[in-house]
Order: sequence, then structure tokens, then C-alpha cells
Amino acid sequence: MAAKTIIIVEDEKIIAEDIKSTLVRFKYKVPHIISNGEVAIREARQHKPDLILMDIMIEGEINGIEAAKRIYHDLGIPIIFLTAYADEKILKQAAESSPFGYLIKPFEDRELHATIEMAFYKSDMEQKLKRNRNFLLKVIDTVPSNIFVKDKNGRYLMVNTSIAKLYNTTPKEMIGKTDRELLLNSKITDIDLEKIAKEDLEVIKGKKKVLIPEESYSLDDGKKIWFQTTKVPLDSPDIPDVLLGVSNDITPLKNSFTRLQELMEETVNGLILAVEKRDPYTAGHQRRVSMLTNAIGVKMNLDQFQLDGLRIASIVHDIGKLYVPSEILSKPGRLTEAEFALIKTHPQAGFEILSSINFPWPVAKIVLQHHERLDGSGYPNGLKKREIILEAQIIAVADVIEAMASHRPYRPALGMDKAIEEVESHKGVLYNKVIVDTFLDLIKNNEFSFTN
Ligand SMILES: [Fe+2]
Repeated sequence: MAAKTIIIVEDEKIIAEDIKSTLVRFKYKVPHIISNGEVAIREARQHKPDLILMDIMIEGEINGIEAAKRIYHDLGIPIIFLTAYADEKILKQAAESSPFGYLIKPFEDRELHATIEMAFYKSDMEQKLKRNRNFLLKVIDTVPSNIFVKDKNGRYLMVNTSIAKLYNTTPKEMIGKTDRELLLNSKITDIDLEKIAKEDLEVIKGKKKVLIPEESYSLDDGKKIWFQTTKVPLDSPDIPDVLLGVSNDITPLKNSFTRLQELMEETVNGLILAVEKRDPYTAGHQRRVSMLTNAIGVKMNLDQFQLDGLRIASIVHDIGKLYVPSEILSKPGRLTEAEFALIKTHPQAGFEILSSINFPWPVAKIVLQHHERLDGSGYPNGLKKREIILEAQIIAVADVIEAMASHRPYRPALGMDKAIEEVESHKGVLYNKVIVDTFLDLIKNNEFSFTN
């Protein structure tokens, strides 16, 4: 290994020369002895030694502490102070320049050697840490996700380039600022700052991970971008109460999902239209049943996904009637047994039509089971209780109520009171008790009526 270079900054010539000869004996190179602060800075800049031994009281405008501060700040060269006075005040001032060691004059050769070697070791460690930190920063900078660390006051402590771009700035400019300050010059026009601040505090104070499945920002060009963000509390002795956030742009995913949803709605609308063209009664019935199943589902606290499935299944639940001759569907008066048998094929027919569409919900199965009854007296398969899917049980109740409350081709409306009487008297036998009670609650509180 090449000999390390040390510059001595010391205005007492004899001491300086003495130190130099000791250093040479320890196999260090000592190209310069300097007695002046300004010259020390200049020489350090030019020759970049491995270490500087700096006397605190030296010649020139600036003292050793000031010179050391500048050298370490600009060049990162480790400094060891030499001083004759172990004065508290001076030592405190010296500490501010992050020195790598002190030597109180007079000192032993062994002491000098050990302090220098310790300083090299510390300096090496510091460099290594710095390189590791830079490497880490480079890694997070190449990740396309937005990565950030924020403190409890919402100030950014660390960010990568990706998030800086979103704010139309650089990572360096973002440090120490809050979202509110950064928004002024960004492309973002619409963002819920209060919601973000609340989430951040929940993570930091509540010490818990928070996943925001989707949130949107509007941009000044009218575009909307969607993100999925995870925030986790980070705790370290140096920086307590901070959070780490990772946010991914899910806009393309969101757009294709929206398009898929639209496609599904269009498909369902096509099916409704097919029923409407042939049998306006059934179309209207399906629409009204769908209103009621939705009201019941909401009151039963079904989640949005289940409600969406229930809505689609309700609005096409009688689609199998497309296979039933229209003379039978619109026949006034009583049906013969054969005619009724034909009508009873509609859940199976509906199942077959809907099975060809790959819905994310069991729409075909719901439709197949909407005439089943809890006691097994329904059709087509005589299923009982839990064999019948919940959504089908909801449609069963709504179907009966709508059918009785509305006018039919073969009879005038029986009215809501009769409908209520029917489901209430068969509650727990034919119809699910919870569903019937939910419906009765809706009626009692005036929370539902068929609007057309
Ligand atoms: Fe039906």
C-alpha cells in the first residue's frame, strides 16, 4: 500500500520539524509544513493529502478550527487538532468541525501514531458509509415507484427522482418541504392534502402500516393519475417518528379496468334490451326487482363487490323467459300445468345464457337459483337453505314482492300490503328471515318504494 500523505499545519517550526521526523519514521509522507490557515486550505485543495495535523493557534486571518471546518466540508479530508491548551471552550469549538482526533501538546510518538491510525480507520469507515448511502440512493432512484420518507410535520426527508418529477422539481429541492409548499409549482391541481396528512399521522403515531388501494390526482393538462400507496412507520434512534412511503402509478391498470367494467355494463345492457324488445313487462319487472335487491343489499351491509354482482344478476334474472313463448308470458287468466312447466324452465335457460359470460360474480348461478325456496319446494333443483346462494335468496324475496305489488298481464296488482303479508307469513320457511326483516325495516322506515 502506498504511504499515506500527511500535511502539518503548525507555526512553531521546531515542533513541526520534530513531528515530521516522527511521521517519516512511521512511514508517512510529509510533503509540506504550513504555518498559515489560508495557505493550509489552498494546499489541501491542491494536493489532497490523506490527513492534516492542524494546530489550533496558527498564523493568518483564520485559526486552525476555521481552516479545518472548510477543509473537511469541501474536501472531506480528516483533521487531527494539535493544541497546547485543553481549554473547554476551544475544545467545544473544535468539536464543531468534526475532527478525527485531538493531541494535547506535548505528546508521545506512540500517541501520535495511534491517533493518526485511528483517524484513518474512522475516515475509511465514514467513506464506506457514504458510498453505501450513495449506492442505496442510486438504487431507489432507479425504481420507477415513488419512494419517500416524511417526518411527523409532513416534511420530506428523502425522495427519489420519480416522485420529484411528479412535483415538477428535483429530489434536492423537495427535501425539507411539505406537500402544500411543493404543490404551488407542480402539475397537480387536485389533491386532498388533509386526507394525506391524516393518513401520515395515522402511520407515524399509530405505528401501523397503511395501504391506500387507490387515490387519484388531477393534473393541469386535465389528465387524472391513479396511485396505489403503502406507508409504513420507520423508527431509528437518529430519525424517530418518520414514515416510508412507496407509491405506484396504477393509471393504465385503472383505465383498462374501467374499460372492462364499461364493456360488462354494455353487455348487460344488450341483454336487458333483448328482453325489453320482446317482453316489456319482464324488462320493467327486472328493473324494479333490481332496485329492491339493491336497497336490501345496502341495508344488509353487503360490500360493494357483492352489491355489483347482485345488481347485475337482478336486472337479468328472468332473461331465460326469452325461451318461453310470449303468448304464455302474456296470457291473461290461469296457466295450464303444461304452460306452467314451460315457464319453470326459465331459470335453467337463463343459467345457460349467462354461463357463456365470464362475470367476476356468480351471476349465472344466482339466476339459476332465484326460484328456489328454503324448504326445498322451489325449482328447478329443490335446493334447501344454505344450498341456495345468498344473492338468489335476496332476489327470491324481491321477485315475489315486485310481482305481487305490480300489475301483471293476467291480473291487476295485489298491492304492497298483500306482498308484505306473503313474505312475512312465510318468513323462515320459504324466505330467508334476515332478508325479509330487512325488507320490512325498509318499508317501516319509508326507505323504499318502487318508483316506476
Ligand atoms: Fe323469475
